[in-house]
Amino acid sequence: MRGLLITFEGPEGSGKTTMARWLSGLLREKGYRVLFTREPGGTPVGEAIRELLHAHEHADMSARAEALLFCAARAQLVERVIRPFLTEGGIVISDRYADSTLAYQGYGRGLDLEELRRLNRFATGGLEPDLTFLLDIAVEQGLARRRVSGDAWTRLDALELSFHQRVREGYRAMAAAEPTRWVVIDASQPIEAVQAAILSHLRERLGLPIEGS
Ligand code: TMP
Repeated sequence: MRGLLITFEGPEGSGKTTMARWLSGLLREKGYRVLFTREPGGTPVGEAIRELLHAHEHADMSARAEALLFCAARAQLVERVIRPFLTEGGIVISDRYADSTLAYQGYGRGLDLEELRRLNRFATGGLEPDLTFLLDIAVEQGLARRRVSGDAWTRLDALELSFHQRVREGYRAMAAAEPTRWVVIDASQPIEAVQAAILSHLRERLGLPIEGS
C-alpha cells in the first residue's frame, strides 16, 4: 500500500510551517502514522545544504547553482526518507517540496520552467504530491509577519519585493493550472479558519476521515 504525500507551499510568512506541523500532530493524535519534514532539510545532507543556501555570505550564488542545491537536498530526502515511509503506508507532510523550486527559481529567478520540471523529476524520481496546500497571502503582509516572527532573516527573504511578488503569482498560476492537486487557502484569515479549511479539503479530496475535529 502506498501512503500519502501532502505538501504545504506558499510565500514567506504565509504560516505554512505552523499549519504543516499542526496537521502532522493532529493526524498523529487520530492514530495515523505521520512523518513531518521540511525542505530544504530533513536529512543530515539536506540540513547542511540548507545552511549553505540560507547564508548571507553566499549572496552571489547563481540561480542555477541554487536550483541544483535545492534539488540535491530534495533527492536525498525523497530517496532516504519520503519513499521508504510511503512504501510502508505512512502519511508524509512536507513543509515545501518540488513546487518551491518552480516558484522561486522559475517564476522568481526566471529560470526555464520546463528545465526545472525535468530537474525536479530527476531529483524526486517522479514522486508527486497527492495534495498540495497553497497558503496564499499578500507579499507585504507575509514579509511583515516574518519580520516579527523572530525567525532568521535569510538570504532569500532579503530579495526585493518584486521577486517575492513573482513567486506568489507563480504559485497562483500553478494552482490554477492543476486544480485537482492544489488547494488554495486564504492565509490572511484567522488561524482557526485556515485550519478548518485544511480539514474540510482533506476530507473532500482524500476522503481522510478525521473524527471529532
Ligand atoms: P523556509 O523554510 O523559511 O520556507 O525557507 C526556505 C527558503 O528557501 C524560502 O525562502 C524558500 C526557498 N526555497 C527555494 O527558493 N527553492 C526551493 O526549492 C525550496 C524548497 C525553498
